[in-house]
Amino acid sequence: MSERQRVLVAEPLGAAGADRLRTDPDVDAVFAEGQSRAELLESVQDAVALIVRSGSQVDAEMIAAGAGLRVIGRAGVGVDNIDVTTAAERGIAVVNTPEANTLAAAEHALALMLATARRVVEAHNSLAGGSWDRKHYLGVQLAGATLGLVGFGRIGRAVGHRALAFEMAVLTTDPYIGAEVAQEHGARMVELPELLAASDFVSLHAVAQEDGSALLDEAAFTAIKPGAIVVNAARGSLIDSAAARAALDSGRLGGLGLDVYDQEPPPNGHPLIGHPRVVHTPHLGASTGAAQRDVSVQVVAKVLAALRGEPVETVPLAP
Ligand code: MLT
Repeated sequence: MSERQRVLVAEPLGAAGADRLRTDPDVDAVFAEGQSRAELLESVQDAVALIVRSGSQVDAEMIAAGAGLRVIGRAGVGVDNIDVTTAAERGIAVVNTPEANTLAAAEHALALMLATARRVVEAHNSLAGGSWDRKHYLGVQLAGATLGLVGFGRIGRAVGHRALAFEMAVLTTDPYIGAEVAQEHGARMVELPELLAASDFVSLHAVAQEDGSALLDEAAFTAIKPGAIVVNAARGSLIDSAAARAALDSGRLGGLGLDVYDQEPPPNGHPLIGHPRVVHTPHLGASTGAAQRDVSVQVVAKVLAALRGEPVETVPLAP
């Protein structure tokens, strides 16, 4: 890099990566956290690199506004907020950090699973409200139960390994993974209908469907094992919220642990927010100090390498 080049950071970035950017002699780092979309569309105009998490839409309009962009860095794994095709057409590299928050996401899925199974939030609120109620909050045991993992990539496998330590039986479904790989990781590969019918817990670890449709829709909630607990720390669009609400209200669904929503933040009146059988968190899957440190360091390293013209692993285009 010959002259200082502007790198626009649109969302919070871990201190380790942010410091690396600030101290790079070739880079003019602009931290634009909290800017509105209109402001970002302006700020991106003189940037050669844009770094985002999941809260900024890097769509065709944003890419067109960033006429000088050479690289888009996604501090995290999912690139559903980035128009990767348009970026490729414009010759802009898209880089992400596919491994940095695997453990954080897996641990958060388990936190939601345990909290939902043992009704931790309801019981916490009851005690905080002055009650001492040991009768109402009967939970579900993980040991001996079956966990169905929808998606068996890095995060799904990490959840599966930990579920085995809880003495659960693990099923999985994933069109891109062979049955022998599942077996190596202690899981049995089945089709989605079998997984739904047999699992006491279902945890989603798939990417969003291309057309935005839900994997768990009304039909899935009708087929799911009665009383099952579902966890979603992947993408909100994988669950049809209205269908999930109906399944909770009918008692078919035993509980729901949610970290992601069809719309983020969820609007007022969202059918799942505040439901007594739902434990929800605001997209915190990657929010540990360790994960944010690693995400920030890795995304900054990749962005700087791309700006220097060094070979860097980019996000593949969808098949
Ligand atoms: C990811 O895709 O990496 C996660 O959703 C976490 C995040 O964006 O913060």
